[in-house]
Amino acid sequence: MADRDRIPVCAANWKMHKTIHETRDFFNEFLPEIDGITGCEIIIAPPFTALKDACGAVAQAGSAVSIAGQNMHYAEQGAYTGEISPVMLKEAGARYVILGHSERRHIFKEDDSLIARKVRSALDYGMHPVLCIGETLEEREGELTTRILEAQLGGALDNVPPQQIITMILAYEPVWAIGTGKTATPEQAQEAHRFVRNWIESRYDSGIADQIRILYGGSVKLGNIASLMVLPDVDGVLVGGASLEAASFSAIVKGCVQ
Ligand code: PGA
Repeated sequence: MADRDRIPVCAANWKMHKTIHETRDFFNEFLPEIDGITGCEIIIAPPFTALKDACGAVAQAGSAVSIAGQNMHYAEQGAYTGEISPVMLKEAGARYVILGHSERRHIFKEDDSLIARKVRSALDYGMHPVLCIGETLEEREGELTTRILEAQLGGALDNVPPQQIITMILAYEPVWAIGTGKTATPEQAQEAHRFVRNWIESRYDSGIADQIRILYGGSVKLGNIASLMVLPDVDGVLVGGASLEAASFSAIVKGCVQ
């Protein structure tokens, strides 16, 4: 693992997977597996319907695992059919919320200004956003990666002051690597993470850039965790498909601390 002061984060994004029943089964198997593991922050984002049970399972086991929402609306309440508010997420026990995930951006057409409102609102309600950014294959091939990252960071962090940016987590997830089995090469991942950290330094300062945790996401699995965690600017991972099985995700968690 790279020599860094930042505590690594191993986060699971379950997307639209798992019923309440399946969530309970997962935690029954997962929590004993990771019992006693220190030196890594573990975050799990189940679907909304399973949030309460996930939080209950974690609390009952006395585990330090944090629970996250996968998305939220920025308003506290209102006529927004099908949406979930920050107050609801918080009451259910979520400490984190994933915002700006590429599936939200591309399938549900969320843009940077909407994501910025959500980031602002999550912070206002005392939650920690996990802000996802990343380029499409077309953008990478057009050599637009850094321009896209810059625009996404600038857009979403528009109203975030220094004392709050350090409570957030950033996740670089190249869209072409999500759910495709293709992972960015270590060079591509390190280069993008370095760019993000430099951007944070120029926008805030070097102390903040040193502290903020930047996760890599996109087809992370047991087989590539070591090659990612060795990179100096990769502070952990955001895992989709490989987080759905307790055995697989607990092995990835262990890979994050080795
Ligand atoms: P994946 O998803 O690990 O299945 O590629 C990652 C993500 O979308 O966060």
